[in-house]
This record gives sequence, structure tokens and C-alpha cells, in this order.
Amino acid sequence: MSTTPTHWYKDAIFYEVSPRAFLDGNGDGMGDFIGLTESLDYIRDLGVNCIWLLPMYPSPLRDDGYDISNYLDVHPQLGNLDDFKRFLAEAKKRDLRVIADLVLNHSSDQHPWFQEARKGTSNPYHDYYVWSDDPHKYAEARIIFTDTETSNWTWDETAKRFYWHRFFSHQPDLNFDNPKVREEMLDVFKFWMDLGLDGFRADAIPYLFEREGTNCENLPETHVYLKELRAFMERNYPDAILLGEANQWPEYVLPYFGKGDQLHMSFHFPLMPRLYMAIRQEDRHSLEWIINRTPSIPETCQWAIFLRNHDELTLEMVTEEERAFMWREFAPDPRMRLNVGIRRRLFPLLENDRRQVELLHGLLLSLPGSPVLYYGDEIGMGDNVYLADRFGVRTPMQWNDNRNAGFSRAKPSQLYMPVIDDPGIYHYQAANVEAARENKTSFYWWLVNLIGHRKRFKAFGHGDIHFLQPDNPKIFAYVRSYELESILVVANLSRVPQPVELELSKWRGATPVEITGQTPFPQIGPEPYQLSLGPHGFYWFHLVTPDAA
Ligand code: NOJ
Repeated sequence: MSTTPTHWYKDAIFYEVSPRAFLDGNGDGMGDFIGLTESLDYIRDLGVNCIWLLPMYPSPLRDDGYDISNYLDVHPQLGNLDDFKRFLAEAKKRDLRVIADLVLNHSSDQHPWFQEARKGTSNPYHDYYVWSDDPHKYAEARIIFTDTETSNWTWDETAKRFYWHRFFSHQPDLNFDNPKVREEMLDVFKFWMDLGLDGFRADAIPYLFEREGTNCENLPETHVYLKELRAFMERNYPDAILLGEANQWPEYVLPYFGKGDQLHMSFHFPLMPRLYMAIRQEDRHSLEWIINRTPSIPETCQWAIFLRNHDELTLEMVTEEERAFMWREFAPDPRMRLNVGIRRRLFPLLENDRRQVELLHGLLLSLPGSPVLYYGDEIGMGDNVYLADRFGVRTPMQWNDNRNAGFSRAKPSQLYMPVIDDPGIYHYQAANVEAARENKTSFYWWLVNLIGHRKRFKAFGHGDIHFLQPDNPKIFAYVRSYELESILVVANLSRVPQPVELELSKWRGATPVEITGQTPFPQIGPEPYQLSLGPHGFYWFHLVTPDAA
């Protein structure tokens, strides 16, 4: 354990992985920590710095582990605590950090706390949860899982009261007004941090508290609690981080950073759909709009930015018109839709168009924030919209063209979810790690390369952003600057070639050196700087000043 914070997360690239989906080490049809440990070289070789583990705790798995029935152990299907410790130790050996998902807001209804709580008001655990005799309380709180839930209250036959839940009805919300619950959570933190974890992705953070007359999101009490949690971490685990999931507009996320004394990181949800929108509209304005609307955050904080994750591509942070546009463009089949979002993977969303996939990564890896990649996207995995809920984007990792895509030696019918084996480009015989690594021109190698280039410059993780505003709206261009370093990014959002003139007088005399090939481009002179870009093409330039050269 280090004693001073290194702010490592500011420059990190995160890799989100489901231990259940990655590699099956014991042949039972389910990924596990033995398998994940074996895969660590693969993860390290991608060039990422930190693994984000989806929930690994004992759970009835009615929400893929986000329904925790014991916070202090590993799900037996994934292994045991020793397997987990070995995994952590092996990750450390490879300089990989590990953060784990932690669900604070709710537990499973199978958690012994809830089973006790149901016994009635006199039970000491009753107040661990949020109860009411009146299901109209907190009526202003929205329903999140609109496809499955009709109320945030569910009647419990044993307790003869209603209990509160922001997600599935089998996930009762914990009562953070109860100091005992807060203490329990500190114990949970301590337990995992002492094993050597580098932090947590804190699930569903806006919903911890409830107050009448509010929408029960982002309440001041939540910030008081997060400060408490952060102070505890600073005292005991100063280099560990809290990455919060708050699917909110940036101005509502800002308070979660506090004065650098609450969350270290927070996902930038509204940026994500606009990355897709911008290339489909061939117009940069929605991207500029959302970034301009993003307030600056304390020096020691960082955004986590992403293209896809284990959930539906959420469309909560767009207007109704934009949502209709996104659904029309990216989810023409109703099966592709779920709740307020789209349950598809990156490559199918972009019609397997390599140029669009590269362009989105060119932006993801150069916009302000630390990028979070989703397992399988690096090898162009497809999805299965016929699977229930969000499982279509959580199918087994595809390693090679052997049985079960090399994921497991179990019988195919034993797998926790089928591998993608519809004939065509997404079949595991075509999209898999071995094939991607054998092909030197694969997206996988392209990405590994780009990650390597990103790591050479501090400006990506630390720099500010200055938009250039060329007349051509199809060109998205910005400069990321940090101390003496300036990176110019120019991207063509259009599917056909585009010219652009950039106003770069501030950098007059500098030479734009293209980063991936180190090729110097013409020096910046007094005239607007002219470039042409191919379909969905983009450049990253290091602006080298005569002094530095
Ligand atoms: C957010 C998680 O990302 C999602 O997968 C889960 O279903 C909900 N929180 C409820 O825990």
C-alpha cells in the first residue's frame, strides 16, 4: 500500500471485464478467476492499466450479480477468495490495477439482512431497508427499469409493508440513513481494500437516499456520505479510487467530485450517445455542445469516458428527438431496444465499419477523460439480441475457433450463455483473439498501437480542450494542451472525403507531427492551415514548436 496518492487514474486506460464471461478455468461452462488470471497477459498486452471487474460476489444472479447476497465473499461459480487473491497478485505483477464493482444502493432480496428485515419492525435489520405502509411515498422518483417495473415499491407479504427499490423488485434499496448500514459498507470497503484492490466502481450512486418532495436523486445527504467514505479511503488507502456511476447531466455530476473530496472519477454518460450521433449526423455540434456544457472539475478528478459497456447503450441523457433519431438509426429492430436504450455491441452498432470504429476510438482516446474499453470490442465481437435482458452483450469472450470459442471446455449446452455462432462476420470462428492477433492489420493491433501512442503524451489525460471551429461542420477539431505539450486532433465525421481550413495562428511556427507515423506536416504559417481528410479519417498531431524541436 502506498502512502501518497499518485493520481494514476488520470492517465489510465480501463478495461471492463465480466469474470463470468472471460475464460472458464475449471470447465463448468462459466468464466472464473482461474480463467481470468490465465488471461492477464492478454489484458496487459492490450496496453490498458486497470481492470474493472463486474460484480463478483455471491448472488442469486437475477441481475447478473448486481443483486448481492453477501458482500464479503466471491461467488462460488467464480472461485473462492484464494483464487481472487491469486488473481490480484498476478495482476499486480503485470502492473495492472484492479477495481471492482460495488453495489451500495441495494442488495439482493436473498441477502440475510433482507431476510431478517422482512420479519417485522422489531427486527434489528428492518431499518437496513426502506419501508412504507403507503406506496405513494416518494412519488416524484422515476422508474429506471421501465420495461420490467411499474412502481418503486413492492409489497412484502411477510413484513406486511412495502419496500423501496430503484431497480428490480428483487433488489431492495438499503437505508443509508441508518448509521449501521453505513458502517457495514465501511467494513465491506475495508475487507476488499485490505486484499489489495485499487478501488471501486460505485454502482447507482445518485439513489442512496430518499426524501419526500424530491426526485430522490443527487440529494445533499449523498454528498455528505461520499465525503465520509472518501475521508475513510484517504486515511487508509490513499491511492485507491472511487469511480461513480451517476447517469446524469454534467452539472449534476459535478457535485460528486466535491472539492476533490468525494469521487475521484465519474462516468460521462451524456457524451457517449453523442459520439454515435455525431458520426450519423455528420455534424460536430452535439459533441461541442455537451463538452462545452461540461464544467471543469478539480485537478485530482477525472471523467471516465466510454463507447459501450455491459448495459444497454443508455439514451437517458438525450432529448426525445435525439432518442428517436438514435433508435431509428441504431436500433431499427425493436428487439435491439431495452428500457431507454439500445442493447447492441459496438461493431454491430457501427455496421462493422472499420473506419467508423477507428474514428470513435480516435475520439475516445483523445477527448478529456480516461477511456474505458469493454471486453470483446477490441476483437470486433457481435451481440445476440435474442438473449434476455442485457445478456446479448455479455456473451463469452471469443478466444479462438475451437469449441465454445476457446472460452470453456464444457459442453456447449452447459455455457452460462451461448457463444456467438450465427454464420457470418461475428461468428467466433471469424471474430476471435487468435485471428485478430494473427492478422497484423486487424483492429486489435490498430488499437494496441493507438493506446501505445496515447501513453506518450500527458496532454490526453491532463490537458484542457480548445475547440477549433472550422466552417465545415463535418470536421471536429480540437487542441489538447498540458504544460508545454499540445496535441491537435482533426476528425472527419463524414463518410466521404472533406477539406478543412483550421485557424491555428496561436501555434504559428509549430510543425504538426502526425503521431502514429511521426511524419512532419507543413509548418503552421500565417494562413489558415489546410488539410483534407478521407472518409471518417482522423489525425492526431503533436504540435512541435521550433524551440522544442
Ligand atoms: C447499474 C448497473 O450497471 C446495471 O447493470 C444494474 O442492473 C443496475 N445498476 C442495478 O444494480
